[in-house]
Amino acid sequence: MSQARGASQTAVLVAAYRARASAATNPVCNDPWAQGLAGDAGVALTHRWDEHAPDMELWVGLRTRYIDDCVVRAIDAGIRQVVMLGAGLDTRAARLARPGVRFFEVDQPASQADKRDRLSKLDGYPVDAATFVPCDFEHDDFVALLCDAGLDRAAPACLVWEGVVYYLAEEAARSTFQRVATELDSRSLLVFDYLSSNMAKSSDRLRDEDRAMKGIIEELGEPMRYGIDDPTPLMFESGYRLLRTVSFDELALQYTGTYERKRFFRFQAIGLASASDEGLAW
Ligand SMILES: C[S@@+](CC[C@H](N)C(=O)[O-])C[C@H]1O[C@@H](n2cnc3c(N)ncnc32)[C@H](O)[C@@H]1O
Repeated sequence: MSQARGASQTAVLVAAYRARASAATNPVCNDPWAQGLAGDAGVALTHRWDEHAPDMELWVGLRTRYIDDCVVRAIDAGIRQVVMLGAGLDTRAARLARPGVRFFEVDQPASQADKRDRLSKLDGYPVDAATFVPCDFEHDDFVALLCDAGLDRAAPACLVWEGVVYYLAEEAARSTFQRVATELDSRSLLVFDYLSSNMAKSSDRLRDEDRAMKGIIEELGEPMRYGIDDPTPLMFESGYRLLRTVSFDELALQYTGTYERKRFFRFQAIGLASASDEGLAW
């Protein structure tokens, strides 16, 4: 098993933003468990970010909503396995549960232990809704561990890789993309978000606000390491045959009916990919 790491603080930060986005007027997402999971300490973390990244609450809300919609559509289309890679404080296993659909949560052991502790303090959360699969993408074989936990490789799965890719070493991220495409059922779907390399790596061209935001993430002990500027060649080389990408502005337009030029949130986007061109019948 992997080297010992502490529980993820960025997972707490994201859950806190999800809580705020869920409580907003005209919310774009609805995660009723997020506030209890993040706690007041998590919400306090977001206040530091607000100074530098005022659109983060909206981005996290839109990201959650879009990925929720992808998972629901995948289930409606017949997929019966949902895998959260780097699950953090994700609650889709509780929120999107459907008879006959299995949810797997893959994450570092320390993050999972922290999640179990937080879940145990929530009244009514269905803790058995997901199968926990402790795994470090940089050291462990996530495919073998998932199969040991009951994933059926001969059936399609919907894999969610939300808020994780940029925290990994490039080699681990590339290998994970490739293994999802080549070792799981080719009709599987992968939905992931990614950052530009300018943002992920240190760069003189960053705005002061972006540099400050990166600094806070580094202080939390989870520096951003891997950026993707054009996912198409990467996905082609990794074995995918279908890719759709969507930007913050496009999601904001779709789910809020707004566009604001001053929202400087153009360095992060979401990709939806499949190794089969039949993978996205919808
Ligand atoms: C920003 S959090 C996102 C959590 C969740 N997906 C969400 O969107 O709420 C990043 C997650 O990636 C996980 N993670 C980071 N590096 C990892 C690694 N090498 N192996 C497994 N999980 C990792 C962390 O433990 C954490 O749960």
